[in-house]
Amino acid sequence: MDITEIISHQHDEQRRMFAYLEEWPRDDHEGLAAVWKRLAILLETHAEAEERYFYPELLRLGTGGADAESTEEEVEDAVKDHNEIRAAVRAADEHETGSDDWWTAVIDANVHNSDHMGEEERQDLADFRQQASLELRHEIAVKFLRYEAQTAATGIEPKDKDPEQFVETQGDELAPDGGSAGASDSEREAHKMATDAAEGVAPTGEGDSLKSSPEAAEG
Ligand SMILES: [Fe+2]
Ligand SMILES: [Fe+2]
Repeated sequence: MDITEIISHQHDEQRRMFAYLEEWPRDDHEGLAAVWKRLAILLETHAEAEERYFYPELLRLGTGGADAESTEEEVEDAVKDHNEIRAAVRAADEHETGSDDWWTAVIDANVHNSDHMGEEERQDLADFRQQASLELRHEIAVKFLRYEAQTAATGIEPKDKDPEQFVETQGDELAPDGGSAGASDSEREAHKMATDAAEGVAPTGEGDSLKSSPEAAEG
């Protein structure tokens, strides 16, 4: 398993489910409500699992993918996008299914989510594929899927995160087992040393910067 593939795959599923809604018989409000509920749960469990298990590791290993200024900018932006998607989902839930206001909110969620997925794929997933080992990608995938499966049946209470605080604390407050998730500290350290060695970076002491490139550190 590979977290980058799982996230991509779930993005495709989200795109398909928005497309189902667009094609759904407009007067079948019960069907629309059911499909929307399932999509809303997927959006929230996916975003929360990314915040718990993917983004903290990207903050540690990322270098700022594609057109991102830095890893910190990538992650702040992603958390902000997640909050916007949550707001649109909340707005839809405040209106009667199938009403004009409901559709406006659903389309709003689709617009925010489409923009966000494009950016996440182009910057975050591409960056992570470059920087993270296959072992780490597998480990995060298991934790990510476990969390989603445990929460998907009922959904979870959507909680906005402060993007700057998230970057500062690396999402540590989200992970119940005291740390972000994917790898053990020793694995992370081993991976970092391997990355530094490959890049010709001299090892620094304990409590070393959590950023993996000088460019990121400037960000
Ligand atoms: Fe995503
Ligand atoms: Fe995301």
